[in-house]
Amino acid sequence: MTRADLVIVANRLPVDRIEGPDGEPAWRRSPGGLVTAVEQVMQGMDGAWVGWGGQPDLDLEPFVFDDTLLVPVSLSREDLRDYYEGFSNGTIWPLYHDVIATPEFKRSWWDAYVRVNRRFAEAAAEHAADGGFVWVHDYQLQLVPQMLRELRPDVTIGYFHHIPFPAYALFAQLPWRRQVLDGLLGADVIGFQRVADAGNFQRSIRRLLRYPTKGDTVTVPTIDTTPRTVISKAYPISIDADQFLELARRPDVIARAARLREQIGSEKIMLGVDRLDYTKGIRHRLKAYGELLADGLITGEHVTLIQVASPSRPGVEAYQDLRDEIEITVGRINGDYSTVETTAIRYLHQGFPREEMVALYLAADVMLVTALRDGMNLVAKEYVAVRQDNTGVLLLSEFAGAADELGSALLVNPHDIEGMKDTMMRAVSMPVAEQTRRMKTMRRKVIENDVAKWGKKFLADVNALRPREVGE
Ligand code: G6P
Repeated sequence: MTRADLVIVANRLPVDRIEGPDGEPAWRRSPGGLVTAVEQVMQGMDGAWVGWGGQPDLDLEPFVFDDTLLVPVSLSREDLRDYYEGFSNGTIWPLYHDVIATPEFKRSWWDAYVRVNRRFAEAAAEHAADGGFVWVHDYQLQLVPQMLRELRPDVTIGYFHHIPFPAYALFAQLPWRRQVLDGLLGADVIGFQRVADAGNFQRSIRRLLRYPTKGDTVTVPTIDTTPRTVISKAYPISIDADQFLELARRPDVIARAARLREQIGSEKIMLGVDRLDYTKGIRHRLKAYGELLADGLITGEHVTLIQVASPSRPGVEAYQDLRDEIEITVGRINGDYSTVETTAIRYLHQGFPREEMVALYLAADVMLVTALRDGMNLVAKEYVAVRQDNTGVLLLSEFAGAADELGSALLVNPHDIEGMKDTMMRAVSMPVAEQTRRMKTMRRKVIENDVAKWGKKFLADVNALRPREVGE
């Protein structure tokens, strides 16, 4: 049995299953943010990654891919319905995003969540070296830290929460609120995106479990030994800025951006890039843009909106409804305001490779990030990173975690449609000197606080608790 010093546990493996050249199934690195983030931390370490292979009933043995031992966790169709689409994305996701959609509380979903979390914890327990470090990721696996601690009291456990942690009054709705808090408190270090998330978590701990908290620590009583101290604090995640800059300097990407601009033909391009998710405020953005066209303040020759909405969680009803709504709205706006020569909204329900995304970022004068609630929003940071000439405007929701660091963006409340319309107008007509001033400040922040620094900060706190350092 291969055992690793560093074990990552996440709902998904960092690879996608594809059809290889010979028609046989093969694996390809998936382009996600978490993969890049953790890859940096894993470099030079003996690492394993526990996760789901992306398809139902994939019963596979662990295998090595790019020097990492991948440990697939099998999920049946029923697990996917009740654990993934159900409790993770029908209960926790809407509840933790401030109830933008209504969370459903179903006991059968909770049972599946417990069952599947145990499966992940067991796989991690099996593959962690003696005294190793296990790093659990995100809301799908909140019970894993405690389950793992029971199985392997010798390992150090970290947990990073990529999405918001809600205010007490919302979290308190969850029928299994105590179990979730206990599950998380199995970790030694619990990381959140924003200071406000860590504050909400600690408030729930005090109110529901009555454990004392002080600064960044929670004191957890234990039956027979001295109380455990758990660190819970904010570690805002970031991007691999160098990797994005490298792409932005590639001649083929630059040429592609120029071609896009030319083909689109309008004076200005506004861009939205999101998973098709109700937390992203796509409807609010379309409403504001549609009204500007209706008011005659902009025309299709003047501004084009490109909206990339990558397909997401199509088995969940709220996502199906959202897709219908967005596509009706796009159709209406285009029907009313496109011309034979111009298209008001170019809507793409597709995912694109990173090169194409960077070309779009380079082509766009204004980037729209209007999330109603978002843990961080890395698209905002990606846009800023690639704008090497310091032009371009970021219109950013104050409800995205990125707003804490990117205060020089044009901050908006996406619920305020009039405010969004005014800010969009300001964005498309912003003088270059102002664009430069704002962009410079933001770029400095994103480039200095890249994902490598994020990983180092988290690991530094983990290592402070351990007899030997991770990676030694
Ligand atoms: C968010 C979550 C991730 C999740 C991703 C894609 O960023 O924080 O944990 O993996 O969305 O969602 P999916 O359900 O397709 O994994």
